Amino acid sequence: RDAQMRWAIAGPLVPAGLDADPGRRAVVMTMGALHDGHLELVRRARAEAGPNGQVVVTIFVNPLQFGAGEDLGAYPRDLDGDVAKLAGVGADVVFAPTPDVVYPDGDPVVRVAAGRIGDVLEGEHRPGHLDGVLTVVLKLMHLVRPDVALFGEKDAQQLLAVRRMVRDLEVSVEVVGVPTVREADGLALSSRNAYLSPEEREHALALSRALGAGAAAPDSGGAGVINAARQVLDEADGVVVDYLALVDPVTARSVADDFSGHALLLVAARVGTTRLIDNQAVEVS
Ligand code: PAJ
Repeated sequence: RDAQMRWAIAGPLVPAGLDADPGRRAVVMTMGALHDGHLELVRRARAEAGPNGQVVVTIFVNPLQFGAGEDLGAYPRDLDGDVAKLAGVGADVVFAPTPDVVYPDGDPVVRVAAGRIGDVLEGEHRPGHLDGVLTVVLKLMHLVRPDVALFGEKDAQQLLAVRRMVRDLEVSVEVVGVPTVREADGLALSSRNAYLSPEEREHALALSRALGAGAAAPDSGGAGVINAARQVLDEADGVVVDYLALVDPVTARSVADDFSGHALLLVAARVGTTRLIDNQAVEVS
């Protein structure tokens, strides 16, 4: 199997490779088409691993997490460009396997189920998506054997699902969440932003604006937060909302109208044919 894996060196490799005593090994899992959000995860991974540790970046567009009719075939791919970017931010090893390496027997028969975390929000609109994510994340953890794995808060439900998997299945990996990296105007960086026309990109700003409006109305309870965000989305051009929700950051379940405390405000919407997600932590009082 090892011989079939496509390894690329993005920086000074520990001489004896992955099997040498690596100190602390940090992994950043990605689907490639890397942007500054991904690179920020890698910088944080470098800090987590320390100078003698090892930073592994995986690049794999995981078919298991794409539904029928989604953008698996069109998903942007640029391995050479990605490796070049990684060299500058402290990555040691890039692991970019092909699907037949990750799934040598075809689609896996035994999988990880996200359970009730996978039924809501993204799971409601992308059935099976989070199961596909967790299955590949666990598999990549076994292949890379990291001490610490870093995930972006941008994909908040994914992050909380990974945390829950690690807890429920006793996976001995520390999970670190990294704050969302945004453009100056608030748009969360995403590989899918590449699909947006200039006009659609303008429309897409409504997502972060809505989250900001919700977060600025924390005194009016859960319902007030949602209403403030909803108003921005209702008035926005070219945005079709899949969901807007205020949820418990551990269970991903919607909080009550009179909720107060720490919650996550999440939005998913389609701008043209591009589906975007964003979220923001809110302290509701
Ligand atoms: P991908 O969308 O490539 O994202 C890889 C990692 O980068 C995820 O942890 C994601 O949350 C993080 N990320 C993306 N945009 C970010 C931003 N603007 N700021 C901070 N972090 C950001 O998420 C996946 O791939 C896949 O589901 C994966 C976990 C690799 C499993 O296939």
